[in-house]
This record gives sequence, structure tokens and C-alpha cells, in this order.
Amino acid sequence: MCEIIAVANQKGGSGKTTTTKNLGRALAENGKKVLEVDFDPQFSLSTSLGYTNTDSEQFTIGDLMDRAIEMKELPGRDEYIKHSEHFDILLSNIVLSSTELKLVGIMEREYILKSILDELREDYDYILIDCNPSLGMLVINALAACDSVIIPVDSNYLASKGLELFLRTFIRILKRIRKLYIEKYPTHKI
Ligand SMILES: Nc1ncnc2c1ncn2[C@@H]1O[C@H](COP(=O)(O)OP(=O)(O)OP(=O)(O)O)[C@@H](O)[C@H]1O
Ligand SMILES: [Mg+2]
Repeated sequence: MCEIIAVANQKGGSGKTTTTKNLGRALAENGKKVLEVDFDPQFSLSTSLGYTNTDSEQFTIGDLMDRAIEMKELPGRDEYIKHSEHFDILLSNIVLSSTELKLVGIMEREYILKSILDELREDYDYILIDCNPSLGMLVINALAACDSVIIPVDSNYLASKGLELFLRTFIRILKRIRKLYIEKYPTHKI
């Protein structure tokens, strides 16, 4: 059974991308099938995995999100999933920042990423989502799509105080988006 894990923190530079990359590798080395999703328009995860020119990619997570928003069929998995020695990758590029703006005006805007990733669950033991440093619509989509969340935090006093506030907001969002989903689709698993 697949577990989807969002790696998130509103604070920048807290270790989200590094955690996603290294956790994915560790899981893969323990025989797990892993997909890493770069869900940051800054595409640091893609870059750090060697994909330095994702603008030339035909299908990134932003393109898939745009298609799902427009209710268009998604391309075949082989067209958008890259394979590395250890795990599979869904790349990102700057397209994802315009996707975030498109999300604002549509119905069920919180569940677009969930609709894409739920289709991939059967292929993986773990799907790791590297979030951007915010609490905007992209992160809300990641929270709606995931089964659990990892919040990397710097071990200094101010960062830990920030975490208290962040957790409160985080849990409020989580409860709200999940409640809305369960009310709307009582027979779906979440
Ligand atoms: N556990 C760690 N110990 C020390 N340095 C770390 C650790 N994890 C990450 N770093 C360093 O901290 C910096 C920021 O890490 P990273 O890019 O993973 O953060 P991020 O949260 O993804 O940033 P952003 O919010 O910009 O996406 C990098 O230089 C990275 O090498
Ligand atoms: Mg990052």
C-alpha cells in the first residue's frame, strides 16, 4: 500500500528538498519503490537531481496540474515520469507558478494534485512531495493529497517558535480540507 508524504514548511531553507531527496534514496535502498514529486516552481529538487533545464521538458507537474484543471486527459505515465538509478521523479519548472494562479478560480481547487497522485499509488510504496516554502494553494494541494507530513525544522529557538504557529495553521487547514472532501465524497478512501 502506497503512502504519500508531503515534506513541507512555510519557512524557506529549512531542509525540505534535502530531506525529500535523501529520504527517497534511503527508502529505495531498502527496496521500496519511490516517486519523488518536485512541487516547487523553483524546481530545486529537479535541479539537484541533475535536471538543470526543465523548461525544455514537455510534461512537468505544472503541465499535468494545468491539464487536470482544464479536465483534459493526462499523457501516458512514460511521458512524464523520469527514472533515476534509485527512484522515479516528476519534474517541475516555472509553469507551476502560473498553475497556482489558475487554481484560485476553479472548483475543487484543493484536490487537483490528489487526483493526479491517486492514479499513481498502485505503482509505488512511497510518493514524496517536495513543497515550496509557503502556505498557498500548492501546499494546500499537497496537504490534501498526502497521508502524512514531514516538517523539517532548523534547530534554533526562533525556528521552533515559528513551528508552533505553523503547526496550528497547518492542522486547521488539514482538518478543513479533509472534512470538505469526506462530506463531498463519503465513499472515497482518504
Ligand atoms: N540536515 C541538514 N543539516 C545541515 N544543512 C542542511 C540540512 N538539510 C539541508 N541543509 C542545507 O540547508 C540548505 C537549504 O536546504 P534545502 O534546499 O533542502 O531547504 P528547502 O527547505 O528545500 O529550501 P526552500 O524553502 O528554498 O525550498 C542547503 O544548503 C542544504 O544543503
Ligand atoms: Mg526546497
